[in-house]
Amino acid sequence: MSILETIRHRRSVRTFDGTALRPEDAQKLLDFAGKVENPYDIPITWKILDAKKNGLSSPVIVGTDTWIAGKMRRAPHAEEAFGYTFEKVVLFAEELGLGTTWIAGTMNRDAFEKAMKVSEDEVMPCISPLGCPAKKMSLRENMMRRGVKADSRLPFGELFYEGSFERPLDRGAAGRLADVLEAVRLAPSAVNKQPWRIVLCGSRAHFYEKRSRGYDNGSWDLQKIDMGIALCHFELAAKELGLNVAFALSDPEIPAAGDTGYIATYEIRE
Ligand SMILES: Cc1cc2nc3c(=O)[nH]c(=O)nc-3n(C[C@H](O)[C@H](O)[C@H](O)COP(=O)(O)O)c2cc1C
Repeated sequence: MSILETIRHRRSVRTFDGTALRPEDAQKLLDFAGKVENPYDIPITWKILDAKKNGLSSPVIVGTDTWIAGKMRRAPHAEEAFGYTFEKVVLFAEELGLGTTWIAGTMNRDAFEKAMKVSEDEVMPCISPLGCPAKKMSLRENMMRRGVKADSRLPFGELFYEGSFERPLDRGAAGRLADVLEAVRLAPSAVNKQPWRIVLCGSRAHFYEKRSRGYDNGSWDLQKIDMGIALCHFELAAKELGLNVAFALSDPEIPAAGDTGYIATYEIRE
């Protein structure tokens, strides 16, 4: 499967069929996760956890006892680094035929943090179940999906702009970046809020976070994790389409609304 197909195919899976994760798949995931580098060079420690051994649970997940979690030192940009890296792991799991769901809230967090041995100077923002998707979603999963309109995304012109936030970008005018931006549009985000905005300026794609209230808990801003996921999708899709992209932190100071802040830039090089 191409990365674009994997991105299109992925969805949060909250109902699993009970089949245990094969040890070789667990090993492949850990090997892969351990090798993923992120643009911020912030290391992440990964573990695959057994729910029964560690007393782990989530009220929204049924049919699997296996979880993957990552932790890292508190640092500037830790959230974007976490989002970028974890999403690569999520997409790799999808390629292995495994279901995942990003979970930041609906878990017994104390038990997960204990199992991960999270220390004072570390954070473990999200976890995910791992397993084989069940053929049929649970009633609760169906209701949750409907509640956050999980199958829809904001229109292209609300997310992407050309030159300034005053000029929405039409998909037809996006040229060779149309599929790359579509890959960003399809990304998962907390409560499906889709905080990512991109302003294209010549060969540069500037990423902005449009913040909603209630997502920054003082330890981390969940929507910055969403931003890391968006960066990951952009980079993977661009590379697959043969574009050479370089990451940069250089704020172009484009006038933006008060709730919208600069995150990072990808420069597209020929
Ligand atoms: C950072 C982040 C945190 C999330 N936290 C939760 C959560 O606590 N519980 C949950 O059921 N889903 C959670 N989700 C899943 C989103 O609800 C889901 O990605 C979104 O509704 C889009 O649906 P899709 O993933 O099926 O495309 C989270 C997603 C992200 C990216």
